Amino acid sequence: MAVRIDGKALAAQVKARVREEAARLPRQPGLAVILVGEDPASKVYVNGKEKDCTECGIQSFSHRLPAETSQEELLALVRELNADRLVDGILCQLPLPKGLDEEAVINAIAPDKDVDCFHPFNVGRMSIGEPVFLPCTPAGVMEMLRAYDIPVRGKNCVVLGRSNIVGKPMAMLLTQADGTVTVCHSKTEDLVEFTRRADILVSAIGKTRFVTADMVKDGAVVIDVAMNRDENGKLCGDVDFAAVEPKASFITPVPGGVGPMTRAMLMENILTAAKQHQAT
Ligand code: GUN
Repeated sequence: MAVRIDGKALAAQVKARVREEAARLPRQPGLAVILVGEDPASKVYVNGKEKDCTECGIQSFSHRLPAETSQEELLALVRELNADRLVDGILCQLPLPKGLDEEAVINAIAPDKDVDCFHPFNVGRMSIGEPVFLPCTPAGVMEMLRAYDIPVRGKNCVVLGRSNIVGKPMAMLLTQADGTVTVCHSKTEDLVEFTRRADILVSAIGKTRFVTADMVKDGAVVIDVAMNRDENGKLCGDVDFAAVEPKASFITPVPGGVGPMTRAMLMENILTAAKQHQAT
């Protein structure tokens, strides 16, 4: 039976450390949160992030905009926040409503305030192993592996999904930790051949019960990044948890696994940004 990786407990430790360090800074760190439109899931995520800020002694500045907001209005807000000295980090919750250009918004955020690590400058820095910020979800996964003494060096790591937010940076960080990494996606042929060889399997597909027991090697480490809803509206991941848990050595639950760690790493990035801003 697998050890359940307790993301909630680990996140609490990270946040306690951030809180301590934040309290020692001359000025309280600040995060500006932009939410455009009424997407219910996005509202839940954003509320969670603002709650984390409160717990960590970080001030949050909330900007809730209607779905009809124009690209120019949104970019003007980003520019204003870029210039605001009380704002250390800017988070624009994705996805944006139809008609708004996400890439343009990401590119408009000042790289030194890009606490999501989405800006091409920060993605590039991370890719060459000289990160300013780390992308929150992949960094949270790496922190979980470290905390549970799970070695990555030389291991077969398989990442399901190739998004800019999770799959690609996850593959990058595992490679930097000396893993042998394969990225699989919707066009991969013979997917099971890859997943069955994985010592560490990270799933970020977004399909309920996609990862079944026959896809998993005995003793594998199974990390579930997804946040799906099952047929009853219950939060769940990609992994058929009940079937895979007996086979794995370590497994992350959903909820209570990667999600809280993603949020904790965001707090860590805000602290990093605040330290840099206050050092100059
Ligand atoms: N939407 C889903 N995940 C994220 C995230 O980590 N950051 C932002 N800004 N939007 C998201």
